[in-house]
Amino acid sequence: AADPRLQGISDAIRVVPHFPKPGIMFNDITALLLRPGVFKDAVDLFVERYRGMGIAAVAGIEARGFIFGPAIALAIGAKFIPLRKPGKLPGAVISENYTLEYGTDCLEMHVGAVEPGDRVVVVDDLVATGGTLSAAIKLLERAAADVVECACLIGLPKFKVPHIRISKKTCI
Ligand code: PRP
Repeated sequence: AADPRLQGISDAIRVVPHFPKPGIMFNDITALLLRPGVFKDAVDLFVERYRGMGIAAVAGIEARGFIFGPAIALAIGAKFIPLRKPGKLPGAVISENYTLEYGTDCLEMHVGAVEPGDRVVVVDDLVATGGTLSAAIKLLERAAADVVECACLIGLPKFKVPHIRISKKTCI
């Protein structure tokens, strides 16, 4: 049977039509954040999945991966690594460019944030095409991390993401 917390989480995500542009159905997790019990349920589901798996680091993707990632990292005793949009990190970085529907974007990580062989979980709020998660995986693997899984609250059903290692269960 499905975990009873999943329905509450799903119900707490507000879908805003035509944002940020016509035709886009925007999944807004800020409504979920206003409900502490539901916010905790979402974090707990990931913590229950990753606790005891020898995870050394949680890597959160800017911006909304920064909301869920640190809570998960603290609960499982892992370090938190921000994967940022370009030009935001002050130290030496490695960068990974990726293609979006319109144009390109980039994720950056501080050199030395991961040790070779670190077991890492990547966290974001939502996976659509999987382009962002794929870039995050590449970036971490270039630093010799072992990317165990990607964890998202929302997986948009219209997109298939066979090219990235993400199990269905991680999209709660
Ligand atoms: C959204 C979402 C993911 C990404 C998923 O971020 O938070 O990071 O898109 O899309 P994909 O699977 O097609 O790559 P957005 O581009 O809105 O950036 P933001 O978090 O900085 O607002």
